[in-house]
Amino acid sequence: VTGPAASPKNLVQSSRQGTTACGSSRKDHSVNALDMSEAVKSSAEKYASIADTPAWKALVDHIPEIEETHLRYLLKDEERCLRLSLEHNGLYSDFSRQRVTPETLELLFDLAKEAGLKEKIEQMFQGEQINETEHRSVLHVATRAERNKELIVNGKNVVEDVWKVLDKIKHFSDQVRNGEWLGATGKPIRDVVAIGIGGSFLGPLFVHTALKTEPVASMKASGRRLRFLANVDPVDVARALHNLNQETTMVVIISKTFTTAETMLNARTVRKWITAELGEEAVSKHMVAVSTNVKLVSQFGIDPDNTFEFWDWVGGRYSVCSAVGMLPLSLQYGFGIMEQFLEGARDIDNHFLNAPFEKNIPVTLGLINLWNISFLHYPARAILPYCQALAKLAPHIQQVSMESNGKGVDMNGKPLKFEAGQIDFGEPGTNGQHSFYQLIHQGRVIPCDFIGTIKSQQSVYLKGEIVSNHDELMCNFFAQADALATGKNAVELRAENVPDNLIPHKTFTGNRPSTSILLPELNAYTTGQILSLYEAMVAVKGFVWGINSFDQWGVELGKVLASKCRSKMNSARTQSRLIEASDGFNFSTTRLLNRYLKGKTF
Ligand code: F6P
Repeated sequence: VTGPAASPKNLVQSSRQGTTACGSSRKDHSVNALDMSEAVKSSAEKYASIADTPAWKALVDHIPEIEETHLRYLLKDEERCLRLSLEHNGLYSDFSRQRVTPETLELLFDLAKEAGLKEKIEQMFQGEQINETEHRSVLHVATRAERNKELIVNGKNVVEDVWKVLDKIKHFSDQVRNGEWLGATGKPIRDVVAIGIGGSFLGPLFVHTALKTEPVASMKASGRRLRFLANVDPVDVARALHNLNQETTMVVIISKTFTTAETMLNARTVRKWITAELGEEAVSKHMVAVSTNVKLVSQFGIDPDNTFEFWDWVGGRYSVCSAVGMLPLSLQYGFGIMEQFLEGARDIDNHFLNAPFEKNIPVTLGLINLWNISFLHYPARAILPYCQALAKLAPHIQQVSMESNGKGVDMNGKPLKFEAGQIDFGEPGTNGQHSFYQLIHQGRVIPCDFIGTIKSQQSVYLKGEIVSNHDELMCNFFAQADALATGKNAVELRAENVPDNLIPHKTFTGNRPSTSILLPELNAYTTGQILSLYEAMVAVKGFVWGINSFDQWGVELGKVLASKCRSKMNSARTQSRLIEASDGFNFSTTRLLNRYLKGKTF
């Protein structure tokens, strides 16, 4: 970073009222950046790993105290429950069903201090090159910064660049939506196919799914369709293009690198679908691109005017607030709705940066999550929205969390002394209850995030029913968290006259942790809040573990081997032969490949 770095406090500013903490008495952990810098240096000099620090050891020593407790009893302590909940601008989180006490939190805040968490958060917001293996800043927060903010990276105010692109998206999406932009045959564009994979797909899909049934957003999207094409599987191509008409379709190719094999093949396939019907010239009216690689976009034949840029300081999995999400979603819902989404994300960014740790929801939840992984050794987390519109939250957070923190070495390349990362999965309730909840209740202990809304996007209340459909859904939201926490023991079962032989089968051990997150409703703003909350929690864990949460070298080897398969398959075919030992695959893969080649009908 060169030039004067903006004060992080000035980078993003909350437009709504501040945070209310529920009963915390802990002192303010914010310290000035210089002091913290010294603290981090001395800690890094003294200890090879965060696991060697007294703060980590204090938490290890604290484990037996927690093991002696049971959530069934902890939940009777009203003072504790009050302390273990936080609210910020309507986003309410209750973590009293986590296996923590106020003392655990104190110890976790000490660990955060030891790790220099506050300073690391500030470094990220200031645009420092914290992604050291790729020499990049990590500035997805700048993609939702207010227009008048300033953040200088390599001599440029990146917030100005962000808004130049946002203005271009607004102009373009307005033109398409109001019919000023016409397709090659003079017809207005009604449908959009967004081609992209990983971070260039999952975030936009998550937001689209969240907004589809939201009353205002769905009204704005009336008569329009947004489809996604991610998988290179020809079945996905067929599904994405099914019943679409080239004359009224806009294709948005989304790829940070513009080299991802699947996306580029799908882009060529869909380009052919357009040009076969409308001719080459139609590309300029029906195909646009979102990328950091403007040169490759132009080589593909897309006009720079039809290219929406983003930058290498936005990680793919953190890119939904850049043109990656803003372009296709503004085409569908209009820029105004999407601006509210940015505001929601900005609101939590501000809170994350500025709130003292004991009032800071992402910091607190991130630290509790780390406690579950590194100290209580729970390997997984279930993300369970009681809100069908959040159906794609878990798949999106799977990438954000697992690609970010699925690492085996620290920032210095040293093997970690503890497990980092976790297996994230999830489904909306109540569907999940009839699927994998059995394991969560009586099998493996998997900490859960329950997410619900006070008001539904849709209202259904059948005459004669005791409660509305949404009430019914939310009764399950409340019940599941308590069933996991309190369980059911033999005494209770006997009181219900359960026969002795069934008591072990019907016993619920309980003491299974969860967090309950309650939103007023799900709209563009609160979708942005949820996004930023989960992104920030990932950063908190990575910063404390001392790993690089912003690179993803682990996905490369598979890509290289797929490329080898591609070239060897092609040579074998053109020479009308099978794969041979000299092609360099192991025995098992050679047999698999040949079984595949022999079974092909073309
Ligand atoms: O393979 C993983 C990955 O690099 C992700 O990090 C990224 O979001 C995805 O591929 C797509 O990459 P691109 O946007 O460059 O096509």
